[in-house]
Amino acid sequence: MIVGAQWGDEGKGKVTDLLAERADMVIRFQGGNNAGHTIVRDGETFKFHLIPSGILYPGKPCAIGNGVVLDPGVLIGEIEGLKGQGVDVSGLKISANAHLIMPYHLLLDTAGELRLGKLEIGTTRRGIGPAYADKASRLGIRVQDMLDPKILRQKIMAALEPKRQIFQELEVQRKRMRDEGVDTAGLDDLDARVDLHAMTEEYLTYGHQLEPYIADTSRLCWETLDRNATVLFEGAQGTMLDLDHGTYPFVTSSNPVAGAACVGAGVGPKDIDEVWGIAKAYSTRVGAGPFPTELTDDLGELLQQRGGEVGTTTGRSRRCGWLDLVALRYAVRLNGMTALALTKLDVLAGVGPIKVCTRYRHPDGAVFDDFPYHQSIIHSAEPEYEEVPGFDEEIGECRSLEELPLAARDYLDLIADRTGVPVALVGVGPGRDQIIWTRPPAI
Ligand code: IMP
Repeated sequence: MIVGAQWGDEGKGKVTDLLAERADMVIRFQGGNNAGHTIVRDGETFKFHLIPSGILYPGKPCAIGNGVVLDPGVLIGEIEGLKGQGVDVSGLKISANAHLIMPYHLLLDTAGELRLGKLEIGTTRRGIGPAYADKASRLGIRVQDMLDPKILRQKIMAALEPKRQIFQELEVQRKRMRDEGVDTAGLDDLDARVDLHAMTEEYLTYGHQLEPYIADTSRLCWETLDRNATVLFEGAQGTMLDLDHGTYPFVTSSNPVAGAACVGAGVGPKDIDEVWGIAKAYSTRVGAGPFPTELTDDLGELLQQRGGEVGTTTGRSRRCGWLDLVALRYAVRLNGMTALALTKLDVLAGVGPIKVCTRYRHPDGAVFDDFPYHQSIIHSAEPEYEEVPGFDEEIGECRSLEELPLAARDYLDLIADRTGVPVALVGVGPGRDQIIWTRPPAI
């Protein structure tokens, strides 16, 4: 299993791509098209938001599990895009139980953010939160519902009903914003997005287009595991964005931690042998929320530029900072991590001495070696750093630990030592081959 060990964007896509080659099946288990990654293969660029990148291996079963929230229009766009690039998508499987993102979920996501104003979460505005909220309220609409006109219509009607008053208030709010010259993007076409008839027709068409891919993905996992083959579970977002364990409310609305894979893919806990946490050699965060090691100075900007830290999904600049070992140890514990994959080590070349946060200090003097459970402590936590020598050499050509500068190797040793898990893989550049395997994968 691959999980994000920080705030997302750790380079999971690249590691998934590498491990998918060895796995017999790949499945995503949470999140939706708030995720995004780019794979460059033989000079050609492929962009993914929903489909596991393992699809680039012809015929390999790549599933979107029941725990994912799925925007069918986006998925169809992705399928068509890949087909246009000559990719065989016959391995795609979509759980019949996955919940759908509906047009009103996008509307509610934007409205929620506008209502919060300066306190906004900074969501990707893809409707993720409202779709999961409807799922929990038992007002969600599932992939299988798109195959039955009567049920689809009934369910959309039931989902719209309790929201009518919100939509009316939104319409008033939109008019007021427009009069005030405020950007109302995301709230436009309100009537069309809550039109029962149009929506039913649109989603029936999607259902028709997606029907060949709809499957019992939990059973598919079981069949694969039952013949002693390997399933790769592909997490999205990251541990610190977890709905239960992250920096709530500045989190996503699903559980990116390893435990969620059992629920979101429909397998038992004993089926998971290895959990790899993916972490950058430094930290980034996109959207609002506490980020103790954030660098708001020139160094932060240098990391942002050297690392090309711009969101794949929203194009927003990512906030950058030093590696946070308090948060990383927390992620190791929460995920039962068996190894770390450390990406983007090359970005640290030439930045001078490297700092790592080893504990937090609260203004009242209390120190925290472990991630504090109290949110206000996290908000006011000051990181305590240990400084280690940096390295100036570019390392993009290194393919073994021995080829790395001593300071880079020492940095890796420090991370393994302080987290208690081995570093199995090191990323030294954006290319697929710019990898140092330090521990061969078990698959
Ligand atoms: P949502 O998932 O769109 O509701 O956004 C909630 C928070 O999670 C925001 O801070 C987003 O920026 C963040 N987020 C969601 N998906 C990703 C991701 O794939 N990478 C990084 N941050 C993400």
